[in-house]
Amino acid sequence: MTAFFEVHKDLPREGPGEAADVHWALKRAALRPDAIVCDAGCGPGDDIQALLRHLPAGHLLAVDLHAPFVAQAEARFENEPRVDARVGDMAQLDTQPDAPFDLIWCAGALYFLGVSEGLGVFRKALKENGYVAFSEPAFLTDEPSQAARSFWDGYEPSSEAELRAKVEAAGFKVLGIKTVSDAAWENYYQPMEARIAKLRAGANAELSKALDENQAEAESWRKVKGETGYLLVLAQAV
Ligand SMILES: C[S@@+](CC[C@H](N)C(=O)[O-])C[C@H]1O[C@@H](n2cnc3c(N)ncnc32)[C@H](O)[C@@H]1O
Repeated sequence: MTAFFEVHKDLPREGPGEAADVHWALKRAALRPDAIVCDAGCGPGDDIQALLRHLPAGHLLAVDLHAPFVAQAEARFENEPRVDARVGDMAQLDTQPDAPFDLIWCAGALYFLGVSEGLGVFRKALKENGYVAFSEPAFLTDEPSQAARSFWDGYEPSSEAELRAKVEAAGFKVLGIKTVSDAAWENYYQPMEARIAKLRAGANAELSKALDENQAEAESWRKVKGETGYLLVLAQAV
């Protein structure tokens, strides 16, 4: 196991998010009670419980490339027949046997494919007029500092206007955009920091480096959080 995954083992979630994000999006999507939903890049599955509340008779497929995260999501919902968790590549969501979906939920993972490419793939995996909800790195100010730019380590976040344009160009109508809260970021960072503290004693050089890097990320985010973060987008295929 790489040092990165040793730090990220058994965390409740792998990116910023909270149940309120799910409720915000799904209250605005006219989903049937028996909707089929995909949690793309589900990580350890922390959004699944909130998603299920909107699917009284529906089905949820959780997909992630990293098998230990899928196993964690599977264990959390082992007694829930409405949930399947599967190792898979969200770049090929349209080939999943459960596709097409009524909604694809994608918290903090679309950037692995890129917004335009990822939405192109998702659109093929959706039913007619299906929904996508995703969170994506963004600048929250017109003039982000160098520290805010560096936080993303080479990735180029969009402004809200750029993000909206990319979503529309991919064949979607934007139904809403909101900023992911600071509490949602702390939902990710605080459990990670607790794990870092636990792993410090006895860490070898490689693990110590990973612990330092992950701790530094949390501290950097707290310094730039007014300037950059995630936008959560709800859009419908047109
Ligand atoms: C920042 S984490 C977010 C995880 C989860 N949505 C959450 O909020 O806790 C991004 C996730 O995307 C997954 N991922 C990256 N590329 C992927 C791909 N092509 N297909 C499926 N999952 C992918 C990673 O393994 C990771 O679990």
